[in-house]
Amino acid sequence: MPEEVSDKYIVKPSKGITGEIAVPGDKSISHRSIILGAIAEGVTTVKGFLRGEDNFATLNAFSSMGVRIDDDGTALKIHGVGLNGLKEPEDVIDCGNSGTTMRILSGLLAGQPFLSVLTGDKYLRRRPMKRVIKPLSMMGGEIIGRSGGEKAPLAIIGKKLKSISYESPVSSAQVKSAVLLAGLYADGETSVKEPQLSRDHSERMLKYFGADIKRSGLEVSVSGNKALSGRDITVPGDISSAAFFIVAALIVPGSKLLIRNVGVNPTRTGVIDILLKMGGNIQLQNQRKVSGEPVADILVISSPLKGVEISGDVVPRAIDEFPIISVAAALAEGVTVISDAHELRVKETDRISAMVVNLKAAGVQAEEKDDGMVIHGISKLSSFNAESFGDHRIAMSMIIAGLTTSGSSTVKEISSISTSFPDFLSLIRKVSAV
Ligand code: S3P
Repeated sequence: MPEEVSDKYIVKPSKGITGEIAVPGDKSISHRSIILGAIAEGVTTVKGFLRGEDNFATLNAFSSMGVRIDDDGTALKIHGVGLNGLKEPEDVIDCGNSGTTMRILSGLLAGQPFLSVLTGDKYLRRRPMKRVIKPLSMMGGEIIGRSGGEKAPLAIIGKKLKSISYESPVSSAQVKSAVLLAGLYADGETSVKEPQLSRDHSERMLKYFGADIKRSGLEVSVSGNKALSGRDITVPGDISSAAFFIVAALIVPGSKLLIRNVGVNPTRTGVIDILLKMGGNIQLQNQRKVSGEPVADILVISSPLKGVEISGDVVPRAIDEFPIISVAAALAEGVTVISDAHELRVKETDRISAMVVNLKAAGVQAEEKDDGMVIHGISKLSSFNAESFGDHRIAMSMIIAGLTTSGSSTVKEISSISTSFPDFLSLIRKVSAV
């Protein structure tokens, strides 16, 4: 059986992370390219689409609603059906492990003239859904779910929607995007305000497709019933995938790695700001704009790191990177304190408790806080047996941690990696000297 297929991975220590790589396409932008391409008029082509399970869940959902999507292996061609051309799916839509698929689709489906039912795997069925159902109900949507509407499966009975001004209690791109997509089907202007800015790919891409989007500080609004036009999209590399390699190159002595073509949208670069503050040698080169998104090449050279305090606005800008940031913190000199990150408790798994358990297994003194963690850095991790808790980012973070131990380490249940980064292990083998 090839190593990738086995559900347990044995990591060997690395003598340096060197060379040049490109990481696969951005997961968030890939989801949005299918969604907007499907409801636009005309054809949308997508290059650099992330071929991960989460994105195929979104793709399959639109195929099941009558959208033709051709795939020649390098680019997708989406034959948009217009705002009102989706068809009632004949079966339940399976969102797999993908919270983005379920939450953003809920917004789009709330305003369709048909019934749809969304479900997902056991991890997704545990995650909170009221955060999207609440504003959608305020717009006149009818969505029911388990546990009083908190959990999937969700049944969405399409309704005529009305516009609202919504103040979201959480900084969440999924909530914001769900409301904006629903707003495309409501008369007038729908707006969402969030406590801190979350990733803004939806608003950028809506604008790129010709929607009427206005931003004022932390509030963004969209006008309803305006047709979108198909576009050509080139998806940049995913900074959330690059982050594993950035940290690997920082913490494995003797490393120098160039990662080409990474999306560096400022709502996503919190991880770079945090690692720079920790003392990391990271340089952004060749900065440019592609399909409305900033892109750069990233050069990383191994560096001694120091502990830092992380809180406030940077947290949503680095929200998916805390597992790998906590690995960097474990090998930094001094203490790192992560606060204001309560959202980590409702990701694919509870990432605060998962990382504290795993870092302790590697000999690190780490403590949970309600909204984060405290990590006391050490100079060398012990060989460990880590659990992924079915979470791709926990699995990849602990594989990176294993590159720095004296002996081999084991990470269990790694199949989840294919939700976001199917080539992760082969890329590690490509750049890691053993
Ligand atoms: C995503 C938004 C984030 C992020 C997730 C992808 C998106 O979630 O954690 O991996 O594509 O909109 P929240 O919106 O819940 O913060």
